[in-house]
Amino acid sequence: MEGVWRGMEECHRLGLARAIGVSNFSAKKLEHLLSLAAVRPAVNQVEVNPIWQQRTLREVCRREGVQLCGYSPLGAKGTPWGSAAVMDSAVLQEIAGAKGKTLAQICLRWLNEQGDVLLVKTYNEKRMRENLDIFNWELTDEERERISQMPQQRGLPGLEFISDHGPYKSVEDLWDGDGVWRGMEECHRLGLARAIGVSNFSDKKLEQLLSFAVVRPAANQVEMNPMWQQRKLREVCRREGVQLCGYSPLGAKGTPWGSAAVMDSGVLHDIAQTKGKTLAQICLRWMYEQGDVLLVKTYNENRMKENLDIFDWELTEEERDKISKLPQQRGLTGMQFVCDNGPYKCVEDLWDGA
Ligand SMILES: NC(=O)c1ccc[n+]([C@@H]2O[C@H](COP(=O)([O-])OP(=O)(O)OC[C@H]3O[C@@H](n4cnc5c(N)ncnc54)[C@H](OP(=O)(O)O)[C@@H]3O)[C@@H](O)[C@H]2O)c1
Repeated sequence: MEGVWRGMEECHRLGLARAIGVSNFSAKKLEHLLSLAAVRPAVNQVEVNPIWQQRTLREVCRREGVQLCGYSPLGAKGTPWGSAAVMDSAVLQEIAGAKGKTLAQICLRWLNEQGDVLLVKTYNEKRMRENLDIFNWELTDEERERISQMPQQRGLPGLEFISDHGPYKSVEDLWDGDGVWRGMEECHRLGLARAIGVSNFSDKKLEQLLSFAVVRPAANQVEMNPMWQQRKLREVCRREGVQLCGYSPLGAKGTPWGSAAVMDSGVLHDIAQTKGKTLAQICLRWMYEQGDVLLVKTYNENRMKENLDIFDWELTEEERDKISKLPQQRGLTGMQFVCDNGPYKCVEDLWDGA
């Protein structure tokens, strides 16, 4: 916990985040965080609604000056993380009926009166207006009392994190067979996504997906750079018409998912020097010549210009040959997903041996 928080504090210090906060933190986790935080969390975003009122956590948040933000204020009926308990509550229905308000308004007003920030979602304009119409009336003491007596039950039990075989589910479990892809196809059919794709898919996973996909993946975004060239995957992608997109094209030096192997490569350094280009440009040009989409990240304006200046020159056969011979090593090993009692006993399991 401390490592991640220190990173977030650093973002705050650099002005990259105006405030930093947490989500789904219990009172215990929040108190632990507060014991080590130099920059205190501004908010804690958790499930809050009349059926999951978060009394203890609200007390801790108030005492410590952390704003409680409530998600699923209407119980998120019909989603995997919610239930019908709020929207079907007879008590709330009665209160709403007697008051001439909707059940949703009763919930939102209740949260507002607790002093919580509330995060309600609707795509429906009429309901947006309804959800905003909670500020010029209030609940009576009797109504508040009835709500406070409601039996409590969490909408998001977190059962998906509990399993007999260790802390992690496999990618296959998370994909629920074809379940996730069918949902993505439906988004595509409804016009909510122009195209759909995947990330970090091995050639094996991609071929499995292609065997049942009705809408084919447009892209597969994976780590790619001269030190991790993805030759086999590129072949499969080309054959199947899936655009390969490379992240960490410079090796993402200094990040938890990258290494210095690319930026410190003697071979790339020599090529760059002889050619009067930067090492970064050599990497990016190499990827461009492979026909890959490349996703390079910089916050620096000069480097943005440098990274774009790769289109009116090319690598020689000899340079390409030298790059093709570079020893291969993945930056994002995925070691954090490997454990003795989880689905992945070694890194090769995670990446399907690739
Ligand atoms: N789908 C996934 O699982 C996944 C995983 C990892 C990353 N990504 C995405 O891929 C994108 C890029 O990858 P990345 O950030 O991992 O790696 P990257 O682009 O290889 O490396 C970024 C680092 O290179 C530096 N840099 C950029 N241009 C440079 C240049 N011309 N000379 C020297 N240094 C330069 C940047 O520093 P400065 O900013 O200081 O210039 C930054 O530290 C990001 O948008 C990221 O979100 C996706």
